[in-house]
Parts: sequence; C-alpha cells; structure tokens
Amino acid sequence: MDIGFNARSIELDVTKQSTITTAAARIAKEHGHLDLLVNNAGISHAGKPRRTLEEVVEANRASKASIDEVRTVWETNVFGTISVTQTMLPLLRKATAARIVNVSSGLASLSWIADPDTWARKHFDIVYGASKTAMNAVTMAFALELEKENIKVNAVSPGFTATALNNFQGTDSVEVGSREPIRVALETDGPNMTFTGPEGPLQW
Ligand SMILES: NC(=O)c1ccc[n+]([C@@H]2O[C@H](COP(=O)([O-])OP(=O)(O)OC[C@H]3O[C@@H](n4cnc5c(N)ncnc54)[C@H](OP(=O)(O)O)[C@@H]3O)[C@@H](O)[C@H]2O)c1
Repeated sequence: MDIGFNARSIELDVTKQSTITTAAARIAKEHGHLDLLVNNAGISHAGKPRRTLEEVVEANRASKASIDEVRTVWETNVFGTISVTQTMLPLLRKATAARIVNVSSGLASLSWIADPDTWARKHFDIVYGASKTAMNAVTMAFALELEKENIKVNAVSPGFTATALNNFQGTDSVEVGSREPIRVALETDGPNMTFTGPEGPLQW
C-alpha cells in the first residue's frame, strides 16, 4: 500500500492482543519509541451490513439491543482502546513529547445528549453512543494518570462525517472530518485531557 514518503503500515486488530503485541514489538525494534498513538479504530454496530443509520440506531435502542452486539462493539471501541494504549505505553514513555488521541464522538458527550434541544439525541444508542461515552471515561482515566509523566491524552470528535460507519450519511467530507483529530495529534505542546470537535471544545 502506498501511504506516502517514509510511511509504513503495520496490521493490527484491536480485539486481538497478539497482533497488538506484535505491532508494539516491531515499533520497538524499528524505532525504539512511539511519539503518537491515535486510537481511531471503531465500529458502529455488529449486525446486518448495508442498513441505514436510522435502521441501526433503532435496532440498537437500550430496550432491545442484542447484548452480544453491545459486547462486540464495546470490545473494539472501549476494550480495544485500553489494550492498545496499555501495550504501547512503554514505547510512548520513551518519547519526548508523547501524545495519545482517542477518536471519540460528539455522541459521547452526556452533557450534550442530556440537552433536549440536541439534534443528535435521536442517534444516541446503547451499542455505539454509549461505547463512545465509555471511551471518553477511559480517556480521562489515562489522562489523569499520565499527566505527571507529561504524556498528553485527549479525546477528539471528527464531527458527522460521511464514512462507512454511518452508511455514508454523515454531512461532512472525510477531509473536513480529519482536520480536528490531525490538529490535536500534531500538537506537541498542547493541553492534556481536552475533548474537542470541529467547532471547538465539547462538554464531557
Ligand atoms: N464518521 C463519523 O461521523 C464519526 C463521528 C464520530 C466519531 N467517529 C469515529 O471516527 C473513527 C473512524 O471512523 P470512520 O468514520 O472513519 O469509520 P470507518 O470508515 O468505518 O473506519 C473505521 C476504521 O476502524 C477500523 N477498525 C474497525 N475495527 C477494527 C479492529 N478490530 N482493529 C483495527 N481496526 C479496526 C477499520 O479498519 P478496516 O477498514 O480494516 O476494517 C477502519 O479503518 C471511529 O472511532 C468512529 O467512532 C466517526
């Protein structure tokens, strides 16, 4: 795969610890440290493919979502983030300005979703939306612990972007959706424990 000058890809599945361990070993061998970890892997459901966003959200309402589907999605979005972060930490500790960026979602914001005027309220389900809220809590737990080591841990929402995740029903292009995650990822002397989106700070 051609991904640009001096770039190399490493395949890993965030739900398979052996692949995460292998990836970390390769980074250790080839580079000795890791400056930036972006936890971007995410899935919105684990049911029938090619459904509309509305069909998925309806099937994944709290009262009727399959518990197996909740587990599968949380395995990637929440436990995968924890596993990858823990495994990469020794490499991040060897960097001079280490950063972790967790790609979250506006849906993760309980304060926003609790507001009756929030347009995205109807999209908050127990499978995906709640997993992103859990991911935010995980972000905060790492940020609080790693602050004393000067490792920055932030959560970022790309906004509502047209990708496979939402059946390409998102309203922003991938170029626009990538901007805020990339801005935070490249910030070597930025703040710790922030939650931002394309329009600025978000409430946790
Ligand atoms: N699109 C939006 O509107 C939106 C809004 C808020 C937040 N987000 C977040 O943005 C992130 C990227 O999503 P996207 O919109 O770009 O959706 P996407 O096009 O479906 O991309 C999801 C990515 O996650 C990877 N992935 C899924 N399961 C994985 C696993 N077990 N191990 C490793 N990689 C895995 C996929 O890899 P493969 O292609 O190899 O399967 C793919 O690269 C997600 O965390 C999502 O929750 C998206």
